Amino acid sequence: MSFQLRMNQSAKKTGSNIVLALDLPVDQPNRLLSRSIEILEATHPYICAVKINRQLVLPLGLFNGVQKILSSAQDLGLPTIMDCKINDVGHTNRIIAEYYYKAGFDALTANPFVGWEEGLQPVFEVANKMHRGVILLVYMSHKATNEGYGQKIHDPKTSQLKPQYVAFAEKALTWNADGVIVGATYPEKIREVHEILGDRVPIYSPGIGIQGGKVEPVVKAGARYLVVGRTITLAENPAENAKFIRDIVRRCTKE
Ligand code: XMP
Repeated sequence: MSFQLRMNQSAKKTGSNIVLALDLPVDQPNRLLSRSIEILEATHPYICAVKINRQLVLPLGLFNGVQKILSSAQDLGLPTIMDCKINDVGHTNRIIAEYYYKAGFDALTANPFVGWEEGLQPVFEVANKMHRGVILLVYMSHKATNEGYGQKIHDPKTSQLKPQYVAFAEKALTWNADGVIVGATYPEKIREVHEILGDRVPIYSPGIGIQGGKVEPVVKAGARYLVVGRTITLAENPAENAKFIRDIVRRCTKE
């Protein structure tokens, strides 16, 4: 089954489009693993997938701690995403992707700045062979994102200038990506990217809550999945916050 289909089924089954960013701050390294699993188990009725970044892989190790989180997620029926933003030359990218997929991740994130040939092509080859997903960064959620993802580039086909993120959204279609990332702090960019992708490539949107993104404009602009971290993980009651966000999404998708 493709990653996109797995995500679809999980969202349908759980009635949620929240991808939990389980990236806890590392102020208590010895509690990191147990707290991550606690939060995952408490919030699982309200989320459709789990995302992890290097904040957990570095202190816990991929084949030790992180694999325990992956097997908890698998037991709960949740797909997992490694937010590694692959960004190197092809032969290195291939090995990085193989490690993450072998550890059990269903998808990983990659940076289209490195291009296709000897860049991300090997990553897509490994993903296709192992039936896993690749999600491309298109427009990030932080303040300086415009310096890179928003710069104007020359389109040789039209001889016009166009924004980098538009070119990346077009590459997501050409490369058959399984998703793109557009920051929740820029709903107008989500709308623009959604106009390019339609329903063919789903938009994952991080930046809700602490970074300033609001659920309603993001969902209405066309984001399919909301990637939410600290607003859930640092809450006194993570399950309550996850349910609260899920319910807002439900309300605004019914309107
Ligand atoms: P918070 O705590 O702000 O965490 O909800 C968001 C999570 O998402 C990641 N993040 C991003 N990942 N592109 C990405 O690929 C982005 O623009 C982006 N912004 C945030 C971040 O690593 C954290 O885990």
